[in-house]
Amino acid sequence: MFDGTADEISKLIEPGRVHRRVYTDSDIFELEMDRIFGCAWIFAGHTSQIPNIGDYVTSDIGRQPIIFIRHKDGTPQVLLNRCAHRGPKVCNEPCGNLKALTCLYHGWSYDTDGTLLDVSMPEGAASHFKKSEFGLAKAPRMGEYRGFVFVSMARKGISFDEFLGPMKANIDDLVDRAPDGEISLDAGMHRYFFRGNWKLQVENVLDSYHVPYSHASTVNKKGEQFSRREGDKEGAQVVEEKTTKTADAWKGRRSFVVDFGHGWTSNTELNEKGRSSPAYDAYKVALAEKVGKSRMEEILTPEFHNSLLYPNCSIMGLNIHIRVIRPIAPDLTEVTVYPVKLKGAPNEMNSANIRLLNVTHSATSFVQTDDLESFRRTQAGLKSNQSDWIDFSRGMGEEEADPYYNATRESAMHEMAIRAQYQAWLHYMCEAA
Ligand code: FES
Ligand SMILES: [Fe+2]
Repeated sequence: MFDGTADEISKLIEPGRVHRRVYTDSDIFELEMDRIFGCAWIFAGHTSQIPNIGDYVTSDIGRQPIIFIRHKDGTPQVLLNRCAHRGPKVCNEPCGNLKALTCLYHGWSYDTDGTLLDVSMPEGAASHFKKSEFGLAKAPRMGEYRGFVFVSMARKGISFDEFLGPMKANIDDLVDRAPDGEISLDAGMHRYFFRGNWKLQVENVLDSYHVPYSHASTVNKKGEQFSRREGDKEGAQVVEEKTTKTADAWKGRRSFVVDFGHGWTSNTELNEKGRSSPAYDAYKVALAEKVGKSRMEEILTPEFHNSLLYPNCSIMGLNIHIRVIRPIAPDLTEVTVYPVKLKGAPNEMNSANIRLLNVTHSATSFVQTDDLESFRRTQAGLKSNQSDWIDFSRGMGEEEADPYYNATRESAMHEMAIRAQYQAWLHYMCEAA
């Protein structure tokens, strides 16, 4: 029986490798729900998903159902979706708009900040019953940066600023591209499930090693991937022409890690100045009008390709989207991909970005389906007890300090980012033991 002591947990991770139980064992999965998703800062939503008072989106943080809602004073709130009377979920739709939240069972109703407004047949309440003690609970801690809302289900732990501080620049890199300085996630979503552990998707976000191989079907005869950004005439060169070698440009990419499992990969080599289309050119004009030409040039030379806000959120800077990873079972994961709209950009530009994302990251796309098949095969292969270990030792010992970003860097073809994720995993899993 696995009882989850720090001693037991730390035996699952060795330098450059992890025990396969970490992907398959239901006891370990339940501990992750408590100690990672029940403690760490978890992405709960973006304020643009709830623009009006009473707008809400429901979800789960680990095992706990939540309601992300705009209160009548204009503030975003994260409430626990559990009636304070006898427990039913109060909000049962994925999203909507409500003036008050009413429980189906006996009709208690709550305000948009969780305050209990009305108890049906109040004359029957016990003499000690106090309405003020029966509101919907709030997530114990909440933090927001440029519309990105995170919650921690633990009262104590690292502060929101400590958690997000090193990754603010990655959020800025995306949001600053909007002429109005704001993004919106109101263009729908792609949502899919895969038969694999949640960490397979998290690891993949910063794994550039797989790209030329897993995504070989997206590469043309010259070794280029198809265009993945509005205004690009061609895609990135991922393999050398007439050979199967990874392109030098691709090898030059770096991955970076900072504390708490966060990290990013450097921007894909692309001909930034070569981007042009009527929609993209109109967007450049709109951005330059707001921020000036030189800042516009700076913004449109993005530094980051994929960024990971460990454990459940990533930002993709190429075909721009936010990805949210939700573990359901050791071998079942939900992924939601939100296309990002840049406020103040011409509609044609935002529409073209969304169309590109349909090609790369929808449930029937070229790129994402390759990754999902790798995750499914990994989970199936890990049933074998041929070895208890999964290796991620590529580049061990070659990590170096990066003073510009105040980070640690290595070739993106190596596996430093996964090692850093397991450091964070160990930290969360042992700290709460
Ligand atoms: S259980 Fe919700 S009102 Fe009774
Ligand atoms: Fe991939």
